[in-house]
Amino acid sequence: MERFDQIKPLWLRGSGGQERSCTQSCAAYDELLRFFEESSDLLCIADFHGQYKRLNPAWQRALGWTLEELRARPFLDFVHPDDRMVTRTEMDRLASGAATVAFENRYRCEDGSEKWLQWIASPLPGRQEIYAIARDVTRQKRLEREIIDTMDFERERMARELHDGLCQNLAGIAALSASLARRLDPLSGAQAESAREIGKLLGQTMRQARDLARGFDPLHLEVVGLATALADFCTNTGALFEIVCKFEFKKGPPPMDAQREIHLYRIAQEAVNNAITHGRARHIDVSLSSSNGQGILAIQDDGIGIPEPSERSQGSGLNTMAYRSRLLGAELTLQRRLPQGTVVTCVFPQPLAILSIRPCASKLNKNSSAAKNPDSHRR
Ligand SMILES: Nc1ncnc2c1ncn2[C@@H]1O[C@H](COP(=O)(O)OP(=O)(O)OP(=O)(O)O)[C@@H](O)[C@H]1O
Ligand SMILES: [Mg+2]
Repeated sequence: MERFDQIKPLWLRGSGGQERSCTQSCAAYDELLRFFEESSDLLCIADFHGQYKRLNPAWQRALGWTLEELRARPFLDFVHPDDRMVTRTEMDRLASGAATVAFENRYRCEDGSEKWLQWIASPLPGRQEIYAIARDVTRQKRLEREIIDTMDFERERMARELHDGLCQNLAGIAALSASLARRLDPLSGAQAESAREIGKLLGQTMRQARDLARGFDPLHLEVVGLATALADFCTNTGALFEIVCKFEFKKGPPPMDAQREIHLYRIAQEAVNNAITHGRARHIDVSLSSSNGQGILAIQDDGIGIPEPSERSQGSGLNTMAYRSRLLGAELTLQRRLPQGTVVTCVFPQPLAILSIRPCASKLNKNSSAAKNPDSHRR
């Protein structure tokens, strides 16, 4: 198949041999050029060093920069700072010969706003070039964001209902059964014992409801920090599902702003829930660590192993995890483990600026049991 960039030199040089083949090439070139110029998708050719060589006019319409401005600087300059690391990794993949499908990153617009672009790209290693098509998916992202915000809001509401409604009622009934047991004591020891048994069961149910409420709303995360919140979550999950669920904090990342920590907490929560529900795991390890300036959240289970994408059922959990990762500028991977199970890894950047956002939290964390001794998480 002819490629338009091959046809162009022929046409420009006018040295196609016979006039007829030149005319055909020119016509083919004009046709392709028309697609290129009029496409509402953002089309480009870039080199392996990260410089645009050719862009269609849709770029200027979408981002506001002129094509000259876009060509004048390395394209990473236009990428949102939080997405540069993942973009660089994707570039390396392309340079090694792999194609890109549905990669997403954020671009800075000339007016200071940002846009989400979704990419399909393939390399031409012989020419050290990348041919790419980007689509503006900002509206879709906004919608996703709204759905996630609504989910988070609903979880908080459920947590409040559980804590302030159900738990208070249970506490009231437990108090009534305690007083009933006292009144029954002089009349019938066996009946008083039954009333105490009811009180005990109510106490257990109340603790479960409180743990559930905390799982729904890790708001205490802002106070205790991500490590302690994850440690609590693992302890509660282990107890609730009667499995081993451990948390390990290995030279963990520094505290981050609460919103980032909530995204990481939710990613871990979804991965653990999936491990239990789908993987039927009996042993789950959650760990938070850092290496080479990057934070690493890993969730490993010993379940049946995640199926290939085409065989997975259509839920929203994995999509939401991927979305939260993108917001963090993180790379999320899901792999089967040997001999069995699944490992979910989220490698996220730790921008230095974040350190100054939560000075109080960092002080709190230093004093928290999680920061002092990772093993103290395991109750
Ligand atoms: N740890 C795991 N072990 C085995 N299978 C998994 C694991 N995690 C995910 N899966 C598979 O991936 C599918 C999609 O997971 P996802 O979280 O997106 O949806 P869901 O859990 O089915 O529904 P939702 O999360 O929306 O309640 C699951 O149905 C399951 O087949
Ligand atoms: Mg799920």
